[in-house]
Amino acid sequence: MARLNVTERFHGISFPGHMHTEKSLEWALRFPFQETDVIIASYPKSGTTWMQEIVTLITRRGDPHLSQTLENWVRAPWLEQNYCAAVLEASSLETRLFTTHLPYHVLGPALQGSKARVIYVSRNPKDVCVSYFHFHKMANFLPEPGLFQDFLNGFLGGTLHYGSWFDHVKGWTSQTPSTINFLHITYEEMSLDVRSCIKQISSFLGCSLTAEEVNSCVQHCSFSTMKNNAKINYTQIPEEILDHSRGSFFRKGRTLFVPHSPALSLMSTLALNSSCFTGEVGNWKSTFTVEQSDHFDSVCKRHDCSPERREKPAEEQGNSKGTSPNLHSA
Ligand code: A3P
Repeated sequence: MARLNVTERFHGISFPGHMHTEKSLEWALRFPFQETDVIIASYPKSGTTWMQEIVTLITRRGDPHLSQTLENWVRAPWLEQNYCAAVLEASSLETRLFTTHLPYHVLGPALQGSKARVIYVSRNPKDVCVSYFHFHKMANFLPEPGLFQDFLNGFLGGTLHYGSWFDHVKGWTSQTPSTINFLHITYEEMSLDVRSCIKQISSFLGCSLTAEEVNSCVQHCSFSTMKNNAKINYTQIPEEILDHSRGSFFRKGRTLFVPHSPALSLMSTLALNSSCFTGEVGNWKSTFTVEQSDHFDSVCKRHDCSPERREKPAEEQGNSKGTSPNLHSA
């Protein structure tokens, strides 16, 4: 199934037809979640793959064998992609781990009443935008990005594949414990202190780890380990689908951002990054002009992306529907 130039429109959002069909998207919306299911939700380029690796490692108690032998899209398939049903049928893994880029307003109804655990990963949108721009250059199933200014307009206007970043983040992060079993982690938090994030995620999953197991998770989800792991670095994808001569999935190794502290709103984080910190600058700064950055900030404000989105400390974000069973190694 190539369909490299096909765009699938679903609920007013564009999806790459290479991996999505109307049937596969509809299938996701009717999915009967089980209480032991774990779902990683994210807007593209927000740290999805990193979280896939972290959750895989946690559920295997730090043992990297599964990460090294099974592709990430098999052990954590995208629910809405056309191969998911077949992967699921063939899988013998005990813990079902899914990934989704669907926004909450589309997938949310399928999650209602479910105790499945949802981990939402978000990232500073300027870094998301730059990462997505570069990914468009190498992914032949995505439209040519054109000039960065045009791409940026598409990002801010919500017209790119997978829709509006603002709707995505607002939709998922406005969930409360009464709606879904939810944990929100940011890319910046993972960059600053992945060990704490691993502990937080393992606690959310009800999978307590020894110090040694945590150490192993930390080691095996590092940028350099993942970059060299053929089961997650996408180098096995054929050239006609991912043009490896035009870039690498693992472009760079660390965030240069102030972490999204629980006490900081998204806008505060953006403001701090753009105003206080010189020396080490965000990766986006090598792409954005000052005008583009200012315009981006004003669009963020218009979308009301500032307000205290994370009112509680991160440790309290993992909510306590409390009745989901603990997860064990599959
Ligand atoms: P860059 O393009 O900025 O390098 P996703 O998995 O959602 O598509 O996100 C991909 C982004 O996450 C890429 O960002 C990639 O380099 C980054 N990434 C993946 N694993 C990482 C890790 N272990 N540490 C830091 N960044 C990671």
